Amino acid sequence: MNSPLRHAPAPDLLARFAAIVGDRYAVTDPAALAPHLIEGRGLYNGTTSMLLRPGSVAEVAAILKLANETRTPVVPQGGNTGLVGGQIPFDGELIVSLTRLDKIREVDATSNTMTCESGVVLAKAQDAATAVDRLFPLSLGAEGSCTIGGNLSTNAGGTAALAYGITRELMLGVEVVLADGRILNLLRKLKKDNTGYDLRHIFIGAEGTLGIITAAVLKLFPRPRAVETAFVAVPSPAAAVTLLNLAQARVGGTVTSFELIIREVMEFGIKHGPNVRDPLASPHPWYVLMEVASQQADGPRDSLEQLLADGAEAGLVIDATLAASLDQAKAFWHLRHTLTETQKPEGGSIKHDVSVPVAAIPDFLAEATAAVIKLIPGSRPVPFGHVGDGNMHFNVSQPIGADKDAFIARWSEVNDVVDAIVTKYNGSFSAEHGIGKLKRDKLAKAKDPVALELMRVLKRQLDPNGILNPGKVL
Ligand code: FAD
Ligand code: LAC
Ligand code: ZN
Repeated sequence: MNSPLRHAPAPDLLARFAAIVGDRYAVTDPAALAPHLIEGRGLYNGTTSMLLRPGSVAEVAAILKLANETRTPVVPQGGNTGLVGGQIPFDGELIVSLTRLDKIREVDATSNTMTCESGVVLAKAQDAATAVDRLFPLSLGAEGSCTIGGNLSTNAGGTAALAYGITRELMLGVEVVLADGRILNLLRKLKKDNTGYDLRHIFIGAEGTLGIITAAVLKLFPRPRAVETAFVAVPSPAAAVTLLNLAQARVGGTVTSFELIIREVMEFGIKHGPNVRDPLASPHPWYVLMEVASQQADGPRDSLEQLLADGAEAGLVIDATLAASLDQAKAFWHLRHTLTETQKPEGGSIKHDVSVPVAAIPDFLAEATAAVIKLIPGSRPVPFGHVGDGNMHFNVSQPIGADKDAFIARWSEVNDVVDAIVTKYNGSFSAEHGIGKLKRDKLAKAKDPVALELMRVLKRQLDPNGILNPGKVL
């Protein structure tokens, strides 16, 4: 058995770490540490004796050099919004918080790039792009607190990946401090750079197990001149998928988001979310939240209206409303973004962040729903998510009135049932949130054995002393 503070350094060693950042930025006060030790879902509670807040890349390098020499494990942390426990120290590891590395080093509008330090909050990066009439398209519910380093390290997807790609595709260059304190500088603005192996991508989605990201060159895009947002009631997931294909073929712009939401989870949002209203007059079984962007100032409104009218005629659309103002569009997105939080008052929730080919979404949802309800009668599957990417958050709320702990105790059993259907459709049991601690055992069982061995080779090579986020991913 591990003691809870297996990795806790001795006081004299803690003093050496504190000396690197200065006492003010070496946090030991339990009250100040507390918010860094729990994660949003309440699944994990960590322990540490110190959180370090380096203020420069050189300080990050000095921390890792000392950590490596003294075999002291560390956990990198950004905004602490990760959903798989990757940012939490479980055995007394030191936390290295990157939030003081929050400079936007350069915005190069002509090259369509922006160089951000890893602690820059995503919303601030978006604002910096807007300030030069560009778009940084990564967008997710946690954008007010998650960081660029966390986004890169989890390879976050979000609601605009449909048009612009996941975080990996938004990155041109990266700067990483390696486990031994060396700084790997791959901060280029180049689309084309065929100089040997492309090492950048090893660190994206590595969840802090291969190095600490300190900065990145990110891609910018032209800022759309017109954006239309529609809230659409559809009879079924199959209708949603057909509507997606039609929208991509017909509307005069780019379909940037296409989110599917089941009525039951929307009711959680309406019931528990602050200032959340049903956008439509009466309830319907499923909804699509769709956004279309265009570079034409007169925008895609007419073609979107036509699409919805044609969709209604073809039985794909039951009802729909187009946002009449920016505020109304924001209200639609506010509803969508409350869905993680508003499941909580409904009791225990067993999560699945899965992807299948888009065409398989309707069958996956039907089969997974039937299988889960058969396993736990009364349980409430509440799928929602990025259907345009084939990525659903197939979350299952406990039966009304059931015991929360007893329900959560069945987490693996429910996962196994859902994952079997994901596997049948050649999908992924971790679409966008990563592996962290939550899915580590699953990765070991489900990943191609040759791929797993190569991952272990990389880990051993880059972190021979196992100091970087031990117990996560592998
Ligand atoms: P943290 O939570 O602090 O860390 C996440 C992981 O990255 C950890 O393993 C940590 O060790 C590592 N890490 C952090 N910074 C660094 C660094 N500089 N170098 C190396 N490793 C580092 N995700 C999606 O993909 N799509 C969504 O739509 C989405 N929506 C969300 C909505 C809500 C309300 C919430 C709470 C989360 C959501 N997420 C979503 C989860 C998503 O992973 C995170 O929000 C975000 O990407 C993590 O950033 P962070 O700065 O909070 O990282
Ligand atoms: C979302 C998070 C859960 O899409 O990824 O809301
Ligand atoms: Zn998501």
